[in-house]
Amino acid sequence: MKEHAKQRLIFALDVDQFAEAEKWVSRLQENVGLFKIGKQLFTKCGPAVVQMVQERGGQVFLDLKYHDIPNTVAKAAVEACKLGVKMFNVHALGGLDMMRQTVAEVDAYCTAAEIERPTLLAVTILTSSTEETLRGVGIDRPVTEMVTTLARLTKDAGFDGVVASPKEAELIRAACGEDFQIVTPGVRPSFAAMDDQKRVTTPAEAIAAGATALVIGRPISAAADPLAAAGKILAEIETALGN
Ligand code: C5P
Repeated sequence: MKEHAKQRLIFALDVDQFAEAEKWVSRLQENVGLFKIGKQLFTKCGPAVVQMVQERGGQVFLDLKYHDIPNTVAKAAVEACKLGVKMFNVHALGGLDMMRQTVAEVDAYCTAAEIERPTLLAVTILTSSTEETLRGVGIDRPVTEMVTTLARLTKDAGFDGVVASPKEAELIRAACGEDFQIVTPGVRPSFAAMDDQKRVTTPAEAIAAGATALVIGRPISAAADPLAAAGKILAEIETALGN
């Protein structure tokens, strides 16, 4: 049961040094199944940092949010598959053709290489964007409407799920059905500070709203005992799943 919950806890490796990333993975691997590597750490350390996580028994969520012409994104996605990552993401705003071509090339590569297809996720609208941000780029529609539209598009393209705020999880679950994955940052256990996250929920609330995995950084990294903090979050996930 703990293994099951561990696969739903993703620690955000928001550091810029290889050695520091290594320290966090060694420290947390007992209670954390996946480690999120984003633009900063990947730009600094490259594929070696992905390999480091895997060698220590962790899996990788490669959070590079690809957004480009279909051919470029599809080719980058295949390279992500070659790194053996467990999940990676694109921007749904790249459109249906971009996501469809990505699915096609990833499927072809994974079948030929006889490896399991990674979880393909799309970001709908970044939670840092407001209605005003959207108007500024010429989109005159409410954020929630855009999130639902883009989540449906992601599903239609054959992707596995989206990255979204836990506050949007119910809406997405209703629009995209039971099998769709919803990975949510912006989660704060009751024992942690809010930091700069504003629209937050607890791990249990996020799971109840339909989240399938949680991205958590500072509530773990800033805790006096990070491994114990991850353990408490795991216990909350297990309870929420009814295990
Ligand atoms: O430390 P914290 O738990 O806030 O870290 C959450 C992680 O999820 C960070 O890597 C942050 O960049 C990312 N994220 C987020 N909100 C989003 C999308 C990603 O906090 N909407």
